[in-house]
Amino acid sequence: MTPTHSYSDGQGPLPTAVLNQIQDEMFNYSNSGKSIMELSHKSILARDLIDDTVERLRKSLRLDDAWDLLLLQGGASQQFVMAPLNLSKEFDKVDYVDSGYWSQQAISEARHCARNVSIIASGENQHYQALPSIDTLNSRADARYLHLCTNNTVMGTQWHQLPDSPTPLLLDASSDFLSRDIPLENVNCLYAHAQKNIGLAGVTVVAVRKRAILNNNLPAYLDYMSHITAGSSYHTPPLFSIYVTNLMLKWLEEQIGGLSSMEEINRQKAKLIYDAIDDSRLFRTHVNESDRSLMNVVFSTGNSISDEAFAMYCKGRGINTIELHPRGTGLRASLYNAITIDDVQSLVTAMHMYQLTLSSLFFESAGVREARFTQ
Ligand SMILES: Cc1ncc(COP(=O)(O)O)c(C=O)c1O
Repeated sequence: MTPTHSYSDGQGPLPTAVLNQIQDEMFNYSNSGKSIMELSHKSILARDLIDDTVERLRKSLRLDDAWDLLLLQGGASQQFVMAPLNLSKEFDKVDYVDSGYWSQQAISEARHCARNVSIIASGENQHYQALPSIDTLNSRADARYLHLCTNNTVMGTQWHQLPDSPTPLLLDASSDFLSRDIPLENVNCLYAHAQKNIGLAGVTVVAVRKRAILNNNLPAYLDYMSHITAGSSYHTPPLFSIYVTNLMLKWLEEQIGGLSSMEEINRQKAKLIYDAIDDSRLFRTHVNESDRSLMNVVFSTGNSISDEAFAMYCKGRGINTIELHPRGTGLRASLYNAITIDDVQSLVTAMHMYQLTLSSLFFESAGVREARFTQ
């Protein structure tokens, strides 16, 4: 089969080495004679897999004993609710930054469980093409937390620095998790689903400071403490997704060389494509230069029909899921961890070739017109 390059924004691609290992072990996981999908979550093999995954994540994030690390289900969307329920009381102040679509989802969900939600800064008046200035993030000193979405998947913006806020941070890191090193000194809780950079949908990582969890007498399933006490097995854990995350963490450590190497590769990938956009007379991005995301490159030809034509052109060259975003932000190329520099190079080449093709069509039609005039 011809390999294809997928720049999808939802389920991210997986490295070929990881896919090969899944295939090799599909019918016999760790000499058990069974597929990982058939393994009991109460087995020693399953326990070892969960513990190893938690340990690798703790190591990558440099978490000490002041932190708990959970592998949960329900996606990042569930954390929009679970985090406020566990980190604040109903009438506590909780602060949010509105940086576009996913942060708005987090805000609207928080309002179901917190009575004093304040949006302390918004990118609305800049159409979310820029992040609010970091110096204007004046959270309320007595707020329980300040929520930030570290990378805005839809808008193509990313916080390259976290605010030095008096209020501890609560981070939705779903679309740049383990793509770079995020300092956690001022953070009380970080949540991120796996399906973009470290595996499959089905598992969501929550790193939370022990002291930040309140005793709120929640239904057990929604209470972080139930999951902590049960070692992320309060109910049947999504073993296959955890297994793929485990393989991704090994790939990150053993084949990429750890988080700092991954960050360097991701910077190179993003630079290749932003340089191609900046040098182009056809493509452009409206995202503020200092806020450009290394993960989701939002760009356009300025016209949805020709954006669509470019997406089709890419498809014809085996470059998949460069698509028009349904929320009208233009084309988007997502450069998650498994996308290689060579993949990005093939997209950049397609951008050059497409522009050359358009120019030669233009000159051809200009030539035809000239021929008619001279008749
Ligand atoms: C930044 C961000 N947060 C939250 C979500 C929602 O995640 P889930 O589908 O796991 O609920 C997404 C989805 O793409 C996202 O990009």
